[in-house]
Amino acid sequence: MTSEEPTLNSSQIADIAKRLGRPLVLVGLMGVGKSTVGKRLASALLRDFADADEEIEEAAQRSVSEIFEEFGEAYFRDGERRVIARLVEDGTGVIATGGGAFVDPETRSLILDRAVAVWIDAELETLVERTGRRDTRPLLRNGDPAEILGRLMEDRKPFYSQAQIRVVSGDGPHMRTVDAILKELDAWL
Ligand code: S3P
Repeated sequence: MTSEEPTLNSSQIADIAKRLGRPLVLVGLMGVGKSTVGKRLASALLRDFADADEEIEEAAQRSVSEIFEEFGEAYFRDGERRVIARLVEDGTGVIATGGGAFVDPETRSLILDRAVAVWIDAELETLVERTGRRDTRPLLRNGDPAEILGRLMEDRKPFYSQAQIRVVSGDGPHMRTVDAILKELDAWL
């Protein structure tokens, strides 16, 4: 398999898209690759894609870090809840969410009822390595990122594990995760 093409053929993928008929929402910790995987998944399924964090940034005309700094986390979470509700209700094909979104009870039950949640899971080391490449995540700035991510992993597992589908992302190309999601979806639908 190349890193660019899913192993399922286009008619198998079209069949999955047809049976799905609901938004697909990617959840999981920072660094699992929700945005990259989401874009590729949407393009494979011939569906539109939205990144909830980017939509929040656009609405606020500020970066996620600036929103946290200027208005605080609670304000960000309110915006996140509203943006995800709009995207799910609009029927956006594939939605990448920020790592904390699925912890919110309202957002979680909306996604579980009206969409299909896909938990992208990964080893802590993979997340530490990936999140270390960019300094855009306010929650990782106040301490040791490995420690913070380890704690978030434990705290959030009970929520992420409610997703209908779980795939594990290794340190290989993101297309492997896309492929794994398509196969899991095919089996689940
Ligand atoms: C957060 C994850 C971030 C972003 C914000 C808070 C979290 O998104 O929403 O910094 O609570 O885990 P990514 O998961 O896309 O990094």
